[in-house]
Amino acid sequence: MKVKILLALMLGFAFSVNGQDTKISFEASEDAPKISKHIYGHFAEHLGRSIYDGFYVGDTSSIPNKDGVRIDIIEALKEIKIPNLRWPGGCFADTYQWKDGIGPQVDRPTMVNAWWGGITEDNSFGTHNFLNLCEELGAEPFISGNVGSGTVEDFTDWLQYTNHAEGSPMAKLRKENGREEPWNVKYWGIGNEMWGCGGNMTAEYYANIYKQYSTFMTSWENENDLYRIAAGASGDDYHWTEVLMRDVPKSLIEAVGLHHYAVIDWENKGSATGYDEEIYFRSMEEALKMEKFVEKHSEVMDKYDPDNTIDLVVDEWGGWYDVEEGTNPGFLYQQNTMRDAMIAGATLNIFNNHSERVKMANLAQTVNVLQAVALTDGEKMILTPTYHVFKMYTVHHDAQLLPVNFDSPEYTFEGGSLPAISVSASKNEAGNTNISLVNIDASAEHKVEIDLEGLDVNNIEGEILKSGKIQDHNTFDNPDKINITEFKDFKLRNGKLEVSLPPFSVVVLSSK
Ligand code: AHR
Repeated sequence: MKVKILLALMLGFAFSVNGQDTKISFEASEDAPKISKHIYGHFAEHLGRSIYDGFYVGDTSSIPNKDGVRIDIIEALKEIKIPNLRWPGGCFADTYQWKDGIGPQVDRPTMVNAWWGGITEDNSFGTHNFLNLCEELGAEPFISGNVGSGTVEDFTDWLQYTNHAEGSPMAKLRKENGREEPWNVKYWGIGNEMWGCGGNMTAEYYANIYKQYSTFMTSWENENDLYRIAAGASGDDYHWTEVLMRDVPKSLIEAVGLHHYAVIDWENKGSATGYDEEIYFRSMEEALKMEKFVEKHSEVMDKYDPDNTIDLVVDEWGGWYDVEEGTNPGFLYQQNTMRDAMIAGATLNIFNNHSERVKMANLAQTVNVLQAVALTDGEKMILTPTYHVFKMYTVHHDAQLLPVNFDSPEYTFEGGSLPAISVSASKNEAGNTNISLVNIDASAEHKVEIDLEGLDVNNIEGEILKSGKIQDHNTFDNPDKINITEFKDFKLRNGKLEVSLPPFSVVVLSSK
């Protein structure tokens, strides 16, 4: 043991073993909700190097691309079965004039991206590029429309342009621009952060605006199969959700949004890679607040919607730190370490366990911005620890939740304490059970005993994401420092699975 502690000290934090096994069991029930694959959604804003120089390099680039979008990014996102992609913002959405992004590229006017760095964009990536990309990815598009500085007419023209088969001016325009069939976009955000960059509105004022916009949104079919998402609250602003649920008729709304970022101090967010255990602990504390927020917003929703007809969509979440040295502060470019893997694993477990109400979520953001799954540098592209967590959790997409019973051991640091372990589990259509476990404890291994009775589990395979130091990350010179490896530190005995979870690790166990 001495050798182990010494080794661990050399690695950064002291590893120790938590003696007592934590008991975990599941309450399999046919009534348990399905974990919507849309919980594993992503977000691509016109921000920094997300779209331009991230996804989109243009079709004359020497970087291999399909219609201007990097092939390495397309392949990476297909691998994690990206279910939906939110675009074009964010704050940018409420400044975006979609008509400037259609038609021949040479004729498109430029625009200034006022929120993010004040740079001039040439509108070369527009509606066709985005929707064709979603088709290529097999992902549902989720368009955030401009409410803050737009009009109802602009908004509904956009809807008509993307969804109307024929016989309308916008369908005609789309066809003239080379796209015969409509894309049939289902998911529409009615503005973004309307309490802030979307227009600094009160909840009451926005509820009226929301009703106005959603009234004119129709799919032109017999039934309205659009999914309209009201711009939601930030963190613990329960009043915002209350007003929307109280004032908007159910016929006009399918979901309410929620945004929460794991930020320890907005004035001093700290380095993405250079942090100590105190900062790590505080980041995790902020990230884990998601559970309380989801529960409390759901409680408010239950009050007005006891039959659970309106969904909660967490359309922005993730870790947010200071930008990397020497990069544009408006571009929000940050590295991604094992801390981010912990945030991703624990947050996705929260969403899975609340999949009764949470039907969609979008990590902020996909490429080169905030808690990205991929970073690019010219021809090079690397996948982050967060990417690997999303890959491991694909097993939960559209599987039936196995509600979990357990009391987590504590991860204590200088008098504070957090639950060290988070778990979620599901059974897929083939009858396989998948269990995802996260141990956020920076120094202690935790042992868990999982009761598998009644789950018909025999052969189990495991995968793990771990590293020597919590600050570890992949770089362009060392892109595979952190990757998924086989996990074998478990034993199945008499229907009980004994698992040892190393410090700051994500483990997925699957019955085969
Ligand atoms: O994701 C970055 C920004 O964070 C988004 O544009 C905005 O909605 C949020 O404040």
